Amino acid sequence: MNEFDLPIRPRRNRRSEAIRGLVRETRLSPSQLIYPLFLHEDKTDTALESLPGQTRWSLDGLTKEVARAHKLGINAVVLFPKVPDAKKNPTGDECWNDDGLIPHAIKAIKETVPGVAVITDVALDPYNSDGHDGIVRDGVILNDETVDVLCKQALCQARAGADIVAPSDMMDGRVGAIRAALDDDGFTDVGILSYAAKYASAFYGPFRGALDSAPKAGDKKTYQMDPANAREALREAELDEAEGADMLMVKPAGPYLDVISLLRDFSSLPIAAYQVSGEYLMIKAAAKSGWMDERAAVLESLTGVARAGADMILTYFAPQAAEWLS
Ligand code: PBG
Repeated sequence: MNEFDLPIRPRRNRRSEAIRGLVRETRLSPSQLIYPLFLHEDKTDTALESLPGQTRWSLDGLTKEVARAHKLGINAVVLFPKVPDAKKNPTGDECWNDDGLIPHAIKAIKETVPGVAVITDVALDPYNSDGHDGIVRDGVILNDETVDVLCKQALCQARAGADIVAPSDMMDGRVGAIRAALDDDGFTDVGILSYAAKYASAFYGPFRGALDSAPKAGDKKTYQMDPANAREALREAELDEAEGADMLMVKPAGPYLDVISLLRDFSSLPIAAYQVSGEYLMIKAAAKSGWMDERAAVLESLTGVARAGADMILTYFAPQAAEWLS
């Protein structure tokens, strides 16, 4: 006898893990995770204080870590260099040095773990003595002069063997300019993962600590987006798609799930989301203090980002999550 005369009971589909597995709408797989890695010119690896569990790798340590992650099912990495102050200048010229750290790292990964897709960051902040993603003159970020250097940077990365270049600088017109520069030099197969909607976020704090790349003066609000805006993300995405982006990114991920969903609905391009350093650190810190279960929180946060519409997720948890998923 049905006490409440209730013919429809959604809980029936949640009765057991077997049934929950059948009706699950979002499935995470290691193949959709991208592992961001920090590197430096030193010969030894350095644990990062601002990002517990993450390391600034030597070239040797880097290739070993990429190989370890690949064995766990991670097929893509993105690289971030820490550049010595002596190699920084206002125009960030070290970013297009064919003998620089990033070209060497790309080649080393391609030699030792050829099955891994190498994605490279296109922006001047690790190389720029002002700590900005663009060239600064009298306190102003110069858009078009920056784009010229970004094209040189993307070409340098392509020459070294990068599979995908990822402009994270938020200058206007850079996707089209980079596409044209790559095509002119015969790199028609190198893809562009555009940081289409990158917000001026407090959640990047630990990353800037890891690379010592915080702006020396001012903030990034004249190029990164206002966290209050979603329609503007559509406008940025529309432009990047028209300019030839192959994939679009939203960054950060967790506080911007609505933006991920919006771009998913609007565009047929693959959508990436970046679970940034501050999102990572929040989970790490809560787990360390014993107030949250790390494994459950990590997998829930990644599932939420995928459910919102992200096809791929950049996360510092990538190898650990891959291990948990298999
Ligand atoms: C800069 C860049 C940043 C991150 C990736 N690329 C920081 C910034 O814009 O200041 C942040 C990533 C993270 O916080 O994990 N081009």
